[in-house]
Amino acid sequence: MRHVIVNIRELVGIQPEGTTRLSGAEMDRTGSLRDAWLLMEEGRITDFGTGPAPQAEEVTDARGGMVLPAFCDSHTHLVYAGSREGEFLDKINGLSYEEIARRGGGILNSADLLARTDEESLYRQAKARLDEVVAKGTGAIEIKSGYGLSTEGELKSLRVIQRLKKESKALIKSTFLGAHAVGRGFSQADYVDQVCREMMPLAAPLADFVDVFCDAGFFTPEETARILEAGARYGLRPKIHANELAVSGGVQVGVAHGALSVDHLERTTDAEIEALRGSDTIPTMLPGASFFLNMPYGRAKDYIAAGLPLALASDYNPGSSPSGDMRFVMALACIKMRLTPVQALNAVTLNSACAMGVADETGSITRGKRANLLITRPLPSLVAIPYHYQTPFLAQVILGGEEI
Ligand code: NIG
Ligand code: FE
Repeated sequence: MRHVIVNIRELVGIQPEGTTRLSGAEMDRTGSLRDAWLLMEEGRITDFGTGPAPQAEEVTDARGGMVLPAFCDSHTHLVYAGSREGEFLDKINGLSYEEIARRGGGILNSADLLARTDEESLYRQAKARLDEVVAKGTGAIEIKSGYGLSTEGELKSLRVIQRLKKESKALIKSTFLGAHAVGRGFSQADYVDQVCREMMPLAAPLADFVDVFCDAGFFTPEETARILEAGARYGLRPKIHANELAVSGGVQVGVAHGALSVDHLERTTDAEIEALRGSDTIPTMLPGASFFLNMPYGRAKDYIAAGLPLALASDYNPGSSPSGDMRFVMALACIKMRLTPVQALNAVTLNSACAMGVADETGSITRGKRANLLITRPLPSLVAIPYHYQTPFLAQVILGGEEI
């Protein structure tokens, strides 16, 4: 079926076929067309242009709004049970993220809750969060396990992600994050063994990627290397949590193991930027975690100035970023990291798609890609999206050519 969007004041995010990432100064550019139309067939973008729109069975009137690629969120933990309001109060009262974790709160608190939650209820909670972020414009999303911390709990989480893949119109990738924290009742060494020997073979068929929280107080670069090697035996490419709490060596171990992305990067030196140069690994920053935990923001501009690509993601999780709002991520990137709106848009669309291995499918306005699109309300320009960062800006979300 042919479906055309007409009356587009500006079509933004156009990229030539075959562009899978934007690095350095390329992040300053995005193709755009004024007074445009866009044609979709069988859920894909097949053409766009200006002047008279082609005939189609279905017509959507953009009413002078902009059309952009839907957001891609390459790093989330939205499969969790309940919430952690108690720790939110602890933080307000002065405890740090690390102090809460050392007292047995944090990730372990979520693992206890998940163990008491049946799979159906876990699915329903995760689906509600997914539906919420899709309504806010996310069309592709990576979701991690990591609140199970036992073989049973990790597999339960991964099965929930599989079911979300089947039942959502969003494009979903799944990551096994058994090494998110040491599960209760294990020594550090025994837990790493458990992840590599028992969990990995069972988790791998349900996962696209493997992740490790390589940071102070969690897993060392040596343990990370072991877990990544175990993942590689099952064909899982790494995506790493690195340098959130300390300069952890996570970037280097990720690059050495061909990680698709290294994520967080709140605390990095020039050595991390050097390690990423010439690699295929996408540095990914999560400004929602900096905002929520009052941490420093990553040196986004330095990464871009060094010629690197930069992706941005939400980190949606109950402990450090209880929001999956990618428009707010764009606003934080502009306000706190001094990215331009165009750089921020490229970071939350094509580069984030690349950081979850789906840049050939989505993340830009390109013929042949999935028609995952946002139609905005009439806006003076792209700048209004991060500027009026709380004013509703979306008129319509279209995923796979269908209005959501
Ligand atoms: O990405 N840093 C590790 N994991 C999450 C937080 C998890 C939690 O506190 O529940 C993050 O920030
Ligand atoms: Fe995370």
